Amino acid sequence: MGETVLSLEGITKVYPGVVALKDFSLDFRQGEVHAILGENGAGKSTLIKIVAGAVEPNAGFIKIGDQSFARLSPQQARSLGIEVIYQEFNLMPSLSAAENICYGQKTGRFASQRAMERKAKALFDEFEVAIDPRALVRNLPASQQQIVEIAKAVSRSARILIMDEPTAPLSIAEVEHLFKLIRKFRELGTTIIYISHRIDELFAISDRVTVMRDGRFVATRETESTTRPELINLMVGRELKEAYPERTRAPGETVLELRGVTGNGDSDISFELRSGEILGLAGLVGAGRTELAKVIVGAARLESGRMLIDGRPVSIRSPREALSHGIGLIPENRKEEGCFLEMDIGWNISFASLRNISIGPIVGRKKEKALATGYRDLMRIKAPTLEQKVKLLSGGNQQKVVLSKTLAAKSRILIFDEPTRGIDVGTRQDIYRLMDDLTREGISILMISSDMEELLGMSDRIVVIAEGRVAGTLEREGFSQRAVLELASGGSYKETA
Ligand SMILES: Nc1ncnc2c1ncn2[C@@H]1O[C@H](COP(=O)(O)OP(=O)(O)OP(=O)(O)O)[C@@H](O)[C@H]1O
Ligand SMILES: [Mg+2]
Repeated sequence: MGETVLSLEGITKVYPGVVALKDFSLDFRQGEVHAILGENGAGKSTLIKIVAGAVEPNAGFIKIGDQSFARLSPQQARSLGIEVIYQEFNLMPSLSAAENICYGQKTGRFASQRAMERKAKALFDEFEVAIDPRALVRNLPASQQQIVEIAKAVSRSARILIMDEPTAPLSIAEVEHLFKLIRKFRELGTTIIYISHRIDELFAISDRVTVMRDGRFVATRETESTTRPELINLMVGRELKEAYPERTRAPGETVLELRGVTGNGDSDISFELRSGEILGLAGLVGAGRTELAKVIVGAARLESGRMLIDGRPVSIRSPREALSHGIGLIPENRKEEGCFLEMDIGWNISFASLRNISIGPIVGRKKEKALATGYRDLMRIKAPTLEQKVKLLSGGNQQKVVLSKTLAAKSRILIFDEPTRGIDVGTRQDIYRLMDDLTREGISILMISSDMEELLGMSDRIVVIAEGRVAGTLEREGFSQRAVLELASGGSYKETA
C-alpha cells in the first residue's frame, strides 16, 4: 500500500448547538479506496468539506505531502489535486451537461462547443448511458445529474478524489460502471475517499473502512478483515439485527389502477395496486419511474389512458388534488421538491397535514409540536431543536423530514420514490418496520427503488419498467436480482462484477 498523501490531525468543527467533528484524526494512503461509514449526521460530509476547502475547521491541521494547513481555500484544495463529488449536486442547472463537465478547466473556457460535447459523450459512453451532452442539466433526472457530476470530477485527473454518496441516485448497472472507473483510478495511484450508506458497496470497492460516530473517530479496518455486523456495530454503537419484516398478510382489493397510462415519457402503463400491498417499481436509471409517479400525482400531464381509484375513474391535475384523493408522494429530489429548506423542521413536518384538517392557529401550533416531536423520535432526526432550519441538517436527516411530512398527512396510497436513499442502516430498519405497519392498516405503497435488496426484501410484487413501458411483473415466488435486471435491461443484462 502507498505512502500517506493526506492526514487529518485533531480536526474539530462546531456549529451552533452541534459538534459536527471532535478531535478527528485520520491518514489516507496513495492509491487506496478509503470508505467512510457513519450514521446520518455523524459528520462525514463536514469532514470532506473541510478537506475540499468549503468549510473552515475550528481546530486541527490538514497535511498534504509535507505541507500543513489550518484551513484550505477551495482554490488551494483544487490546486493540490483534490476533487469532490458532493452529496448535494453542485452543477449549474442552466448550462448543458457538456458545459458543466468542462466548466472551469484550463481547456474548458476556450474549448469549442464541439470539443466539449465530444469529451462529455466519451465519458457518458463509459457509463453506457445515453445522456445528450447538449441537454440542460436542470432538465435531467437526478440519476443523470449524478452521472454528469461524476464525469465532471473524474475528467479532472485528481490526486485525491472524494465521493460523497455517489451511488445514491444510481441503480445497479450504473454502479458497476462507476466501480470500474474507480478501479481504473486506483491503478493510476489516485486516492479515493468513498462515502456510502450501502455497506455491500464498501465491501465491493474499498481497501479500508473508517467508522465515525457523533463526529468522532471510532475505528479503521482493512475491508478484507472485517464483517458487515462488525461495521454496523461500530457505527451505531449497539447490536442491530438487520432483517426485512415478514410479509405474511395477503393484499386486499384493488385501490389504484392504471390503464394504458401515457404521459411524461411513459407509454401504455397498466398495473394495479391493492390495499395493504407494497408494489415495487423497478427499472434502470432513466426507465421512467419517477416520471410515472409525477403523472400519477398530477405533477405531469396524463396524455392518454385512465386512472381509477376504488374502481372509479379519477382525474388528478395537481399534487394537491392527489392528496385530496389520498395519494401522497415522497419525491426523489428531496432538496428541491420535498421540503422548504428555509423553514424549520416542525413546520415542514406538519405543514401538509395541518393544512388538510385546517385548524385554528393556536391549536395548530400545539398540534404541530406534538406531531413533529413524534416523528423526530420515530425517525431519529438529529437536530438540536425542532426550530432548526431544514437546510442546516445533514443530507440523511433532510430525507427523514420529507418522509415524516408525507407520513403525517395520512394518505391511503403512498408513493415512495427511493425511500431509504441516503439513510443509514439503523433508521432504514425503522422505516421498513413502519412501511410494514402502515400496510397492515390497509395503506398501499408504491415503492420506486434502485436498491435491489430492498426491492426484493420489501415488495409483495414487482413491476419492472424499461424505456417507459412495463417490461414485466414478478410475483414473490419469482423474485431474484437476475429476473429484475433481465427485464429492466430488455434481456441484455450480463453480470460483470
Ligand atoms: N451549516 C451548518 N449549520 C449547522 N449545523 C450543521 C451545518 N452543517 C452540518 N451541520 C450539522 O453537523 C452534523 C454533521 O453533519 P454532516 O452533514 O457532516 O453529516 P453526515 O455524516 O454527512 O450525514 P448524512 O449521512 O446524513 O449525509 C449534523 O448534526 C448537521 O446537522
Ligand atoms: Mg452527508
